[in-house]
Amino acid sequence: LTAAATAVAVCLSASATLAQCDEGEIVIKFSHVTNTDKHPKGIAASLLQSRVNEEMNGKACMEVYPNSTLYNDDQVLEAMLQGDVQMAAPSLSKFEKFTKTFRIFDLPFMFKNMEAVEAFQSSEAGQNMLTSMERRGLLGLGFWHNGLKQFSANKPLLVPEDAAGLKFRVQPSDVLVAQMEALDASPQPMAFSEVYGALQTGVVDGQENTWSNIYGQKFFEVQDGITETNHGLLDYMVVTSVDWWDGLDDDVRDQLGTIVKEVTEERNAAIAQVDADNRQAILDAGGTIRELTEEQRAAWVEAMKPVWEQFEGDVGAENIEAAQSINM
Ligand code: LMR
Repeated sequence: LTAAATAVAVCLSASATLAQCDEGEIVIKFSHVTNTDKHPKGIAASLLQSRVNEEMNGKACMEVYPNSTLYNDDQVLEAMLQGDVQMAAPSLSKFEKFTKTFRIFDLPFMFKNMEAVEAFQSSEAGQNMLTSMERRGLLGLGFWHNGLKQFSANKPLLVPEDAAGLKFRVQPSDVLVAQMEALDASPQPMAFSEVYGALQTGVVDGQENTWSNIYGQKFFEVQDGITETNHGLLDYMVVTSVDWWDGLDDDVRDQLGTIVKEVTEERNAAIAQVDADNRQAILDAGGTIRELTEEQRAAWVEAMKPVWEQFEGDVGAENIEAAQSINM
């Protein structure tokens, strides 16, 4: 089969279930792992899908596969390099195999708030990161925000010592492993889709994630409570394959690139509200949220910040400096 015939065949088989693609349209499969309702990535991917399907009708069509229904994050980048999926937005921690520079985003307490994250990602240092994996076949089209992470466990966590000895699910990332070791906790890298079950059955005692993931996956139901630590970042890179992107006709690539950029700006600008809504939704559903005193928070910073030194060589001291100057 020629590439075009394959595209048509894929398109037709997909249209049987999703009823979206017309014959001859370029099919853009977007695979992700979160829920769609209320979730920053789910909302952004759905908006991208509806804009592409409306504005590029006849040229291209997008099919979004949420909730790890097509791939989990361990598989999706390989699948993209094979041409089985064209877009995804894995969290920045998931690029571990492709670049060490992205480790800056996992370092605990690197960014004061989401404004600092936005400023860093928009800076020259941040924008250069989008193209830093081109040699490995991956191209970043933009950063999508989720938010800052909170800890939860099957017992109250108020000071770092409370986490000692507990097993925590982390995303597969050496920085996050080191972060949990700095707390004398036991890190357990695990796919997102497995976390609820692991918390429920006691395979792990706790986890770290954002308000929208804690709400969307209902982690709060199987935890004692969530501690508002804001200790790390969970953001995304919208990624595509260099081969696929370069193979598009100029007008298609330009139009798609513009839509991605506009969706990125629109949804990133709304992140504070989406985050607050998810935090509130946890409370409304009966979840417990504990806030820290300044003193307690300082103890978490003191326990985890030494991790920076371990990864300074990977990340680049100049990038850390750039991020820190934005925090001022
Ligand atoms: C996780 O694995 O916890 C997150 O990266 C999931 C996501 O995409 O928000």
